[in-house]
Formats: sequence, structure tokens, C-alpha cells
Amino acid sequence: MAHTLGLTQPNSTDPHKISFTAKEIDVKEWKGDILVVGVTEKDLTKDESSKFQNPILNKLDAYLSGLLVQVSSEEDFVGKPGQSIVLRLPGLGSKRIGLIGLGQSVSSPVAFHSLGEAVATVSKASQSSSVAVVLASPESVSDESKLSSASAIASGIVLGLFEDSRYKSESKKPSLKSVDIIGFGTGTELEKKLKYAEDVSYGVIFGRELTNSPANVLTPAVLAEEAAKLASTYSDVFTANILNEEQCKELKMGSYLAVAAASANPPHFIHLVYKPSSGSVKTKLALVGKGLTFDSGGYNIKTGPGCLIELMKFDMGGSAAVLGAAKAIGEIKPPGVEVHFIVAACENMISGTGMRPGDVITASNGKTIEVNNTDAEGRLTLADALVYACNQGVDKIVDLATLTGACVIALGPSMAGIYTPSDELAKEVIAASEKSGEKLWRMPLEESYWEMMKSGVADMVNTGGRGGGSITAALFLKQFVSEKVQWMHIDMAGPVWNEKKKSGTGFGVATLVEWVQNNSSS
Ligand code: BES
Ligand code: MN
Ligand code: ZN
Repeated sequence: MAHTLGLTQPNSTDPHKISFTAKEIDVKEWKGDILVVGVTEKDLTKDESSKFQNPILNKLDAYLSGLLVQVSSEEDFVGKPGQSIVLRLPGLGSKRIGLIGLGQSVSSPVAFHSLGEAVATVSKASQSSSVAVVLASPESVSDESKLSSASAIASGIVLGLFEDSRYKSESKKPSLKSVDIIGFGTGTELEKKLKYAEDVSYGVIFGRELTNSPANVLTPAVLAEEAAKLASTYSDVFTANILNEEQCKELKMGSYLAVAAASANPPHFIHLVYKPSSGSVKTKLALVGKGLTFDSGGYNIKTGPGCLIELMKFDMGGSAAVLGAAKAIGEIKPPGVEVHFIVAACENMISGTGMRPGDVITASNGKTIEVNNTDAEGRLTLADALVYACNQGVDKIVDLATLTGACVIALGPSMAGIYTPSDELAKEVIAASEKSGEKLWRMPLEESYWEMMKSGVADMVNTGGRGGGSITAALFLKQFVSEKVQWMHIDMAGPVWNEKKKSGTGFGVATLVEWVQNNSSS
């Protein structure tokens, strides 16, 4: 980084790692800072003599001379989701005991992920360094779902603990170091699953950090530097190829370069390749991410309340998902699959050298585009990125982009819209998202709407009418994808950002890693 506007340098974060161990022991024997028990509403039923019917709660209560029954009724703890109590106690191997409400039942990975987040919250509040998690009714988890439930708890804890303090002048280090997960089994298969959950979670955290970084720090050059660092960390399986503006010009990426033209921070085209170090490759995939480190709108500048210009550092959320997935894949090293990670990184700014509304530009597949709106810049960068991805000889491409406000209007803040002509690919990615817990909704590629994209001078315009804005954007991208390749577009303009937490979410990482893993030969 040669020069940073505003003199801001992020604090370095050595990743805070937590060690997870799966155990089968009596909760009374466990020693540490806090024993957290997940309880459903039913677990809190009492018998005629006001004792818990649940054997684990009853045992703990007896050990504590009836304190648990007392406190739970005094504090009106009925096991609703989000409810929790923490008691400091003498006489038990554990310094504290915490009860966390699970509602009527827990079954989905999402519910276990929330339990993990709640464990993170209580362990933070009590500054605990060693934690145990157990269910009051461990038998309610079927043998088949033990692995996925335990790993959902682990990822909930890692992600729940994460706080991005790189840009604060003072920060506190989390105290949690070790977590024992009790009653979900033991053994190498479970340990592998927990390691996988950790790898994915640190990928999600990397994605969040990239998204949170302000545009004066995370320029296209810095994003490319982060990608190159990743490739050198996992140099056994990754190679990096970062193209500068000149090299992109040679590849005739007129559409991408037109977006970058106004900017003082030059564009960098990022291409990482993952290849397993041994064994043959059966499937080749590409993950393409929109990488606008800032989107001002250009001459069609974003104005007025609700335009969110001040949040447009998150317009590289698609590339954050792609690089977050790359980090996790570097750890997991799935066999039999090759993965290309592609980002056409740039800024959408305003200056005398910038593209004007009405300009006609030419993409690297030779198609011409009349730019009727400079704020529809993401699709212009993706056009050349998709052409480049198709030239890598891949079988399947998934692109992710904070592409349209229209998609947020359609699906709200927590679901992404997906577009693909391939039912097969839709099935694959939806199956992956059901495991990751990220919400996707399939949208129509309504060909008749292409009418709105016709231009008087060029092959197409870059924006259609007000209606169906997310659909016409997807139809635009389709113009740059070879028919021989299976392709999906994910519009993640809504879920890229958590407004309540004022933070990037790392959305997409978990689904992408799951999808790559399912395409591997492991
Ligand atoms: N990055 C924005 C999309 C966006 C808007 C993401 C709000 C998240 C929240 C994209 O580049 C954009 O400006 N899209 C325009 C397209 C329009 C000009 C056709 C939009 O959605 O308004
Ligand atoms: Mn825009
Ligand atoms: Zn944008």
C-alpha cells in the first residue's frame, strides 16, 4: 500500500483460533469456566414435586440444592429462543452454568448455529476461556444429524465471537480458547467435520473483513494483494495471476476498463487457480465475484435518501465471498476438482476520464454496449470477467454480485436471488445452501424482457426499465456466457450486509465451499 487516504492503517489481526473437542463425559465431571446447557421448553417441564423431569437438568439441580429450579422460575426462564441465564456457583467443577433457550425443539443446522452464537455471547459476557456445550436432551439429536449439528454449533461459536475491531483505536481480544462439545459423539469423522466447520467459518470471517474494509483502504490494488497473499499462503495448491490495466487492454476488456476509467486507483483483474497437488481433475469450476471496491454511481451518481452511497464499500461483497471461499478451500484441499477464482476489481468514480452516459463500449467477446446508466456498472465488469472465465475451459460458473437494488426490493435483506438456465446447477447450489443455511430463491430468466435491453446504436443497453431490474441484469450477464458452460448468477445485494450489526456478512462463502466440496471426489 503506497499511500492511504486519511492515513488509516487497519490493526493487524492474528486470527483468534479456538480449539474444539468432541467428548462423551458426565456433565458433573466437566471442569472449566462455563458449562452451557441448551434447553427446550419441554426440557423445563416439572413433575408434581416441582422437580425437572429432564434427567440432566434434574441431576444438576440436585447437585446445586434446587437452585436451578428456583432461578429458572424467578427469572421466568421458559426455554424460549434467545432466553438465557448464567449462574456463578461454588462446588461444581464448572465455575458457571448457563442455560440457553432453544424454543420448542432444535433440529435444523440453523437452530444449532444459533445455539453456537448464544454460547459465544454468554462466554464473552463471562470472559470465559474454557466452555462446554451440551443439550439437556441429547437423545433428541438423531445419529445421522449429530455431525452436522455439532459442526453448526462450532461455526456459530466462531462467527458469534467475531468482532471486527481492525479500524478502532482500542480493541479487546476474545478470551475463549477451548470448547468441549459433549454428547454428539467422538471420533475422527466428527473431528474432521469440526475442522471443516472451522475452515469455512474463518473463510466467512475473511469475507466479512474484506467487506467491512473502507474503500480508502481496500482499493482494487489492496484487494489484489489480499488475493496474492492467499495464493502464497496455500502455494501448494494455488497459483495467482493478477492482470494490470495494460494486460486487460490486450485482452480487449473494454467493458470492465470503461468502469475503471474515472478512477485514480487503477483496476486489477484477479485470477487465482486452485489445483489439488495430486490426483486427476474431474470437474473444473469458476467462481466469479463482483469487485467494486466503491460504487459512486459514476455520472449517474447515487443521490437522495436510501441510495446507500455511504455503504457502497460493500459493492465488492461478491468478490469477498469468492476470496473467502478460496481461503477455506486452501485449508480443506478437496481432491478431483479445479477451481478458478475471478474478480475484475475496480472503482466506479467520476472524473474527466470517466465513461459518460450514452457512451458505446466493446466487451472482450466483441459485443457492444450502450451505457445508458453508469450506475449499472457491476454487469459491465462481470461481462468481461465471465468471458474470461469461459475461456478457462471450465464446466460450471457461479457468479456472485451485489448487482441490483431491485433484487433487495423483491426478496428483502436476507435472501439472494439466483438465476440459471440449468435446472441441474440450480439443484446443486440449492442443496449446498440448505446445508450452509444461506437463503437463496430461484428467479426467472424471462427472455421476453430482453426487449427492454435493445439499443438504437449498439448490441444492447446496460439497463432496462424500472420493472424486473434484477431479471434484466441477469439477462445482460447471460450475453457473455458460452452456451457450453453451466452458469448461475447470484444477486446478493440484500444479504451482503447486516444493518443491525453494521457489518458485512460473508454471505456466499459457506454455500460456495459446500458446492465445491460436493463437486470434488472426496
Ligand atoms: N451496487 C449497486 C446495487 C446495489 C444497490 C446493491 C443497493 C446494494 C444496495 C449497483 O451497481 C447499482 O447501482 N445498480 C442499479 C442498477 C440500475 C441503474 C439499473 C440499481 O440497482 O439501482
Ligand atoms: Mn451501481
Ligand atoms: Zn454496484
